[in-house]
Amino acid sequence: MLHITELTKTFNGKTAVNKVSFDVKQPKMIGVIGRSGAGKSTLLRMLNCLTTASTGTISFNGEDVTGLRGAARRQWQSRCAMIFQQFNLVPRMDVVSNVLHGTLNRRATWATMFNLYPQDDIHKAIEILDRLGIAEQAPKRAEALSGGQQQRVAIARALMQDPDIILADEPIASLDPMNAQIVMDALRRIHEEDGRMVIANLHTLDTARRYCDRVIGMRDGRVVFDGTPDQLTTGVARDIYGAGADFSEAATSTQIETLDRPKAEIAKTAALV
Ligand SMILES: Nc1ncnc2c1ncn2[C@@H]1O[C@H](COP(=O)(O)OP(=O)(O)OP(=O)(O)O)[C@@H](O)[C@H]1O
Ligand SMILES: [Mg+2]
Repeated sequence: MLHITELTKTFNGKTAVNKVSFDVKQPKMIGVIGRSGAGKSTLLRMLNCLTTASTGTISFNGEDVTGLRGAARRQWQSRCAMIFQQFNLVPRMDVVSNVLHGTLNRRATWATMFNLYPQDDIHKAIEILDRLGIAEQAPKRAEALSGGQQQRVAIARALMQDPDIILADEPIASLDPMNAQIVMDALRRIHEEDGRMVIANLHTLDTARRYCDRVIGMRDGRVVFDGTPDQLTTGVARDIYGAGADFSEAATSTQIETLDRPKAEIAKTAALV
């Protein structure tokens, strides 16, 4: 599926991502962890072609998607939808119109200008919002929603693109623990039910362990760990974060309760209908 080879990004002589290589053979849920400045966002932005790689290649299902331009770039971006820490919604626009923005890549400019959407798309948008448990918010302005609800609107907008991959850059970093759990449960359930690959930059170890099938640890632009949550011991985490013996996992935790729920159970009890 996804094949990344020696991906490198240099900003003014400083290397942000350094020869990163990894393969994803099945649509897994992958967490990327590492301290601030490790290169996590830059990696995701290169995958989505928001930033051009300096060297290296990204290929998806045999197709080279590195450095695409124009229509081909927009097409790739609609196949790997991106979610951001700050939601990136249009605050004064209603929720359903924000979700419909997910179809922009395949719509004519004039239709977008006049906010005209096909009935089918509107139904689909409401269905997706319903699936995320926020259909009743559809007519409200995005800015009137809580952070957790806004992030679910952003996920709905991403799903509107029917993407193969969902890239999430710190999707829960601005949320309280309860909303963080709702949003991560939603991503996990979308992964399991739809078979979409999810790659999420996460700033807490416990979230990566709890929700992901595979964790990639970055340090100074390089991949220093690539394994299962079980292999991510405290010693390994200390190495990824470049911390000393006083490293405490609690410092990277957003946990609100002791949650050792198996992933299948998370999917079952998720807030989605
Ligand atoms: N547009 C840019 N111009 C110059 N330097 C940049 C740019 N974007 C990122 N960098 C640098 O690249 C390095 C990696 O940044 P990046 O944002 O990818 O890290 P990160 O792991 O996402 O960090 P954080 O956890 O704080 O979000 C940092 O040193 C950063 O200053
Ligand atoms: Mg970042």
